[in-house]
Amino acid sequence: MIKTIEWKNDKVKMIDQLKLPLKEEFFECSDYKCVIDAIKSMKIRGAPAIGVAAAMGIVLGAVNYSGNDVDELLRKIDIICKEMGNTRPTAVNLFWAIERMRKVAFSNTWGKVEDLKKALKDEAIKMADEDIEANKKMGKFGATLIKDGDNILTHCNAGSLATVEYGTGLAPIFWSFKEGKKIHVYVDETRPKLQGARLTIWEMKKENIPATLITDSMAGYFMKKGTINKIFVGSDRIAVNGDVANKIGTYTLAVLAKEHNIPFYVVAPTSTIDFSISSGDKIIIEERDKSEVTHIGGVQIAPDDISVANPAFDVTPNKLVTAIVTEKGILRSPFGEKIKNLRL
Ligand code: MRU
Repeated sequence: MIKTIEWKNDKVKMIDQLKLPLKEEFFECSDYKCVIDAIKSMKIRGAPAIGVAAAMGIVLGAVNYSGNDVDELLRKIDIICKEMGNTRPTAVNLFWAIERMRKVAFSNTWGKVEDLKKALKDEAIKMADEDIEANKKMGKFGATLIKDGDNILTHCNAGSLATVEYGTGLAPIFWSFKEGKKIHVYVDETRPKLQGARLTIWEMKKENIPATLITDSMAGYFMKKGTINKIFVGSDRIAVNGDVANKIGTYTLAVLAKEHNIPFYVVAPTSTIDFSISSGDKIIIEERDKSEVTHIGGVQIAPDDISVANPAFDVTPNKLVTAIVTEKGILRSPFGEKIKNLRL
């Protein structure tokens, strides 16, 4: 299974997701600006993956500091954390990871610069290890919702590539397949950035999991026909009431699922829960460049000088979510206080 991001020889090694599926190419960042560019350009993307990338980027900023003044380094870390926070607005894992790194830096009185650098490096590596562990737990819990013969629809990419390894929304699929369940996965292409067509179907092929690529507009057709009987997606931010932000188009699927009585499952680690917001209305939706809509693969497909909208995420209300799978277990709707209690 692909490792999306790792700390290697004091550099951050990542797979370039903009080159997939045509080229399997890795690149290394040796300074934090390179990580910022990778997150903004979506060479690395997916909520948990960008969280770990930000944490490792902060470490790069620290290890590249050549002075021996702890306070000066802390001031530098503060600036880097702010810059990291300005890369992408919706996935809360990014802010969760930055906050965790900030806490390590500022909650200790460091005697030496080297000790502070080491503590930050240890924390980022721990975060990456915990991500894989959480994903496998979600895979195991989520697999109990999957049966032999299921035809599962997924949207965007919630696989290994969206995390350090093993994925969120796809983790129960990986787990079930390993258990020998006979399943088939339907993959939405996921316009405008095509994470389904470029990344998810590539992951399915790599793992030999039977899968079919469809365009986003075909999902309703297959639900009505009875071909699809379950939906699994990841999330970028979950409010305390269970409203779920995920890739644009997720809400449409949830409405369709309700109409066709198809269970709609969200798989996300607790680092995706924003305990500070009571409902999904408070989630900031990233608006991305118009060219993602007017062009495909660099080729213009729409006229010049037109009005274009490009919200990258939408919010699915909790009433349309059948259950949320986290590394702590499965929460079934109605969520009531269940999500809030995960914090305790
Ligand atoms: O814009 P992206 O590709 O970063 O969006 C990613 C998604 O919406 C995923 O489905 C989401 O991060 C959940 S899976 C980890």
